[in-house]
Amino acid sequence: MSENQEIGHGFKPSGQLQFGIFFQGVNSGTIWKAPESGSQTEFDSFRRLAQTAERGLFAAFFLGEGLRLREHLGRPHALDVAGRPDAQTMLAALAGVTNKIGLVATQNTTYNDPAHLAHRLSSLDLISGGRAAWNVVTTDNAWTGANFRRGGYLDHADRYTHAEAFVETAKRIWDAWDGHAISGSETAPAWQAPGSVRRVRHDGRHYSVDYTPRLPRSAQYRPVLFQAGDSPEGRDFAARQADVIFSAHPAYDGAVAFRRDIVARTVRAGRGANDVKIMPASEFILAATPSEALEKKEWVRSLQIGPEQALAYLEQFWGRELSGYDPDGPLPEIDPVVVETSETRGSGFHGAKARQLADQWRAEAKDKGQSIRQFVSGKTSRVDATFTGSYTDVADTLARYAQTGAVDGFNISPWLVPSGLDEIVNHLVPELQERGVYPTEYAGHTLREHLGLPVPVRSREADDDAAGGLKLELAVGQQQL
Ligand SMILES: Cc1cc2nc3c(=O)[nH]c(=O)nc-3n(C[C@H](O)[C@H](O)[C@H](O)COP(=O)(O)O)c2cc1C
Repeated sequence: MSENQEIGHGFKPSGQLQFGIFFQGVNSGTIWKAPESGSQTEFDSFRRLAQTAERGLFAAFFLGEGLRLREHLGRPHALDVAGRPDAQTMLAALAGVTNKIGLVATQNTTYNDPAHLAHRLSSLDLISGGRAAWNVVTTDNAWTGANFRRGGYLDHADRYTHAEAFVETAKRIWDAWDGHAISGSETAPAWQAPGSVRRVRHDGRHYSVDYTPRLPRSAQYRPVLFQAGDSPEGRDFAARQADVIFSAHPAYDGAVAFRRDIVARTVRAGRGANDVKIMPASEFILAATPSEALEKKEWVRSLQIGPEQALAYLEQFWGRELSGYDPDGPLPEIDPVVVETSETRGSGFHGAKARQLADQWRAEAKDKGQSIRQFVSGKTSRVDATFTGSYTDVADTLARYAQTGAVDGFNISPWLVPSGLDEIVNHLVPELQERGVYPTEYAGHTLREHLGLPVPVRSREADDDAAGGLKLELAVGQQQL
């Protein structure tokens, strides 16, 4: 039985890959201490990367979101790259200097209001001629929540019920204008055809909305929906609502298993086996020959995890200064401070778990004979997500993903800004095109067209809105108009 037959439920591999660029703005993955590194905040870095990606026919330019400056031991995390301008502001500016590439804004549902966010995303979609997408995240930590008027944060279990009501409401807002809502003629009696703009009302546990949307549909009807979350609840949420998953499973076997799981969940949710696209996070270290690529990898890793980064990484879990320790020596014997430890105060990692993890890590490093630096480099090197090799070898590897339908593409984090896509676009893309697994031109003008996604049909809630109803039902399934 071949790999794609095992995926089942009638899933058919498209045989094609799409690329997105993920401009990280945080994390040790981005090298900022190299002569060729540019600014992480100046517009020109974003412009240069977006235009290079567009030259390489990338489907999307993707921005993450972190709503608080990352901290380390109570101070700004000085070894992290810093910045992350507001995604929608940045993408609106990029819309003006690009023509085709999709513009994906990560925006969380926990700290926004649906009517406001839907309006802003509609604006981005209109400004860009139908190239906008929303990466729906739920942001799982109290530390970010403390920064907001509502304080606190939602329990893990609540985040997705909250997110679901949010996305449902946003979809109804985008459904509220018919395609022909704006009159095409100056002799028409009014700018709006009667009944073509509806009021959206939702009265639920998390939101009350009574709103007449202010903007018409975009060239792609509404923003494409991405989702990034990996728990069973997150996967079910994606299976019901998303067009694309930004996944954390790029290694081949894991990618196939993830695809199989998502297809099964999507079909259970009443949608088609091919309805949700999957684009895992990834990193590429490429050169003309395999040995040059391996050499380059050593260099990249040494800059991603230098001695200071290695100690700082452990400090996040130990909850205390470890500057007295030798980065080339063994892991600290001292125990973590368990009051509050947290990976860059972003991942919620507390208490007794810290001690357990420290014990486990000490044993693991001892077993492998690793120093602090070697151990941290191994832990953070995103082994699974890194494709290292010659252009031709990596193209062969990726072609296998395409042919079996393990993924629909990759969301690539360049480790250098702003030149980090140059060799991918100049060398890898042509190799993939030669193998027939990568587009040779943009499929159309909108992101929906690039990704081969159907235009949504108006959801049942929109009919309820037309009838003045308050009922909220799940919008499942999309079909071609
Ligand atoms: C590949 C990937 C990228 C993510 N990027 C972001 C991000 O940029 N901003 C954010 O607030 N959360 C981000 N998240 C976190 C998710 O939104 C979510 O809060 C987290 O994964 C926990 O949800 P889960 O329990 O369903 O996995 C990302 C998650 C994944 C898997």
